[in-house]
Amino acid sequence: MSKQKLIIDTDPGIDDAMAIHYAFAHEALDLIGLTTIFGNVFVEQATRNALWLTDQASRPIPVSQGAATPLAITPNAPSHYVHGDEGFGDLPAMITTRLADPRPAHIFLADTIRAYPGEVILCPIGPLTNIARLLDHDPAIATLVKKLVIMGGAVDCAGNVSAFAEANIWNDPHAAERVFAADWDMELIGLDVTSHISCDADDFLSIAKESPDIGGFLERISQFYINFYHSIIGRHVCLMHDPSAVISITDETAFEYENIPLEVVCSGERIGATIRSQQKRRPVRVAKAVNAKQVQEIFLDICKQSDKIKKQSDKIQASNA
Ligand code: BDR
Ligand code: CA
Repeated sequence: MSKQKLIIDTDPGIDDAMAIHYAFAHEALDLIGLTTIFGNVFVEQATRNALWLTDQASRPIPVSQGAATPLAITPNAPSHYVHGDEGFGDLPAMITTRLADPRPAHIFLADTIRAYPGEVILCPIGPLTNIARLLDHDPAIATLVKKLVIMGGAVDCAGNVSAFAEANIWNDPHAAERVFAADWDMELIGLDVTSHISCDADDFLSIAKESPDIGGFLERISQFYINFYHSIIGRHVCLMHDPSAVISITDETAFEYENIPLEVVCSGERIGATIRSQQKRRPVRVAKAVNAKQVQEIFLDICKQSDKIKKQSDKIQASNA
């Protein structure tokens, strides 16, 4: 069976790195590109980190830099207290010699989706600015993407940056509103489910044991993330927001969905809230329940394979050289 083509739009970011390595390690997925966005870090840091992750996995796929700022609001500060000053906990700036694709993210996305009409799943796990720009640049793209699987939002639960808003939507509410108003196949993996999916230090140690290189890196950066969550929820775990979105692509049956037309509050106290829309718009498949244990086990099983998959990629690179 052919692999599912996937592009991840990302602001790496600790849980972004977990999501990307999950995608690289999963044999049913063909991760064909990364596009970067401001959010957890500045966009230049996001691009450097994404390039470094492709190096680390020996998968030299294109990385294309996207927006540095939101469509309309003044940018919020990067969430260094969650992800570290350089995006990977307390690790220093990663060094890579790989260069980004010369095209801006929305052009790269349009070109790549048009090259494989109906075949590409686009998975944004950061603010939605690049996706809104993609729609403005090429409105027909909505019919050419296989589906959009978004990590973001808090529909029937509290937010994580305010009582109302989830970080990715809050960082560019106008972009999210533009995306939810468009007529395309959309799924939302938001805090309604991701706030129930967690891993602890022993989980990451188990990945590091099987895959000392990539798993060891994930274990190392998880320490900072677990410390952050301990400071706010009092438990030594971290929430698996971004990996859960990618896992919903490979293991949809772990989630239960409800079709809900959505809109975003773009000003005032509730800015960034994802609410039920009374307007006539295409419903979003919103994940409302999850088998959290199953998702956690899938994440661990796949990431334990990371070094083995990397060795296979090394062989392919060597034979192509
Ligand atoms: C989202 O915000 C970021 O901090 C994470 O990477 C994730 O994409 C969770 O609200
Ligand atoms: Ca993210």
